[in-house]
Amino acid sequence: MISKIPFLNLARFPEPVKEDLRSKFDQILDKGIFSGSDEVLLLEKQLGEYLDSPHVVSCANGTDALEMALRALEIGIGDDVIVPAMSWVSTAEVVLLVGAKPIFIDTDDNGLLDLNLLDQVVTSKTKAIIPVHLYGKMVDMETLMAWARKRNCKVIEDAAQAFGAFQNKISAGMYGDMGCFSFYPSKNLGALGEAGALVCKDKSIAEKLKMLRNHGQIQRDKHIIIGRNSRIDTLQAGFLNVLLPYFGAWQDRRKFIAQIYLDQLKALDWLKLPLGLESPSHNVHLFVISTTFRDQLKQFLKENEIETAIHYPLPIPLMSPYKDPKEFPKSLKMSKEILSLPLNPWLSDEEVYRICDVLRRFKF
Ligand SMILES: Cc1ncc(COP(=O)(O)O)c(C=O)c1O
Repeated sequence: MISKIPFLNLARFPEPVKEDLRSKFDQILDKGIFSGSDEVLLLEKQLGEYLDSPHVVSCANGTDALEMALRALEIGIGDDVIVPAMSWVSTAEVVLLVGAKPIFIDTDDNGLLDLNLLDQVVTSKTKAIIPVHLYGKMVDMETLMAWARKRNCKVIEDAAQAFGAFQNKISAGMYGDMGCFSFYPSKNLGALGEAGALVCKDKSIAEKLKMLRNHGQIQRDKHIIIGRNSRIDTLQAGFLNVLLPYFGAWQDRRKFIAQIYLDQLKALDWLKLPLGLESPSHNVHLFVISTTFRDQLKQFLKENEIETAIHYPLPIPLMSPYKDPKEFPKSLKMSKEILSLPLNPWLSDEEVYRICDVLRRFKF
């Protein structure tokens, strides 16, 4: 009997990593400090160095990061915010949570927001745009920033999937006014629970974000704005500090696996392969293929014990809470054809070759 290939199984962390994580847990337990502390400060410092950001504000998750970014820029009722039709729901959810209106934009051939459509969707109320570096592939930020600056439009990068991606040596999240990261466990750098962070270049915005994540306090018991509790757990900060030194090697492994897929699958003319994976501006978070036979292919892979996923089966403006009567033909087509193959540092070469073999055997 063949063994199942999971889409992602975090129990596959190598044993030395598990040991490091256990000892970090013990250290924190012995210290007895579970909120804030030097682990959080160390994480923010290390992230700042890696991303080359003067300000890093850790927080509870990527969704909160996006929402706090909008609040810090005072975007709310009466404002429009451009968001891609194809993303994880958080990107649009946060816009409505602050009282603003999401203006959906269709995607390009890579599933990223189509920069050619910006002039068609912009309104006099457009205050911000949230480009999403979907699947880890960065949006062309030079072009986007030039467009946004001309229109006095703020840019909040949704880099939740793009930690480790750099365009012209600038990290995802560092082009815009603010960048938002998620360290959800399945991300390239994932905690053992929920976690996130914001980056920005402006000190006063960073100070405001720190207040927003901590009940609007400028100092203990002095609440000067309305905030929330979105502090990162000390444990999660500690675990991320353990995982950060492994990150580079895991990125190399992701790129290596992606190359096997590209080489092994390039002859299949019924399959569209992702582009730009070898570039530093793609962190190979997901390996997303597309075919008009998607559902049959997914089933065939399942019958062969290979787990896959769909990111995402429905464009956001087609979901009932976000209904937009406009048409998003590319996003819709994409949502029907895309399939994410397993890609993570813990897959063996043998498993990757087996997936390719099964794909080659697929008959439609
Ligand atoms: C594109 C995108 N935006 C936002 C988020 C939200 O991050 P979190 O799950 O940490 O709230 C995610 C995470 O899944 C994401 O993929």
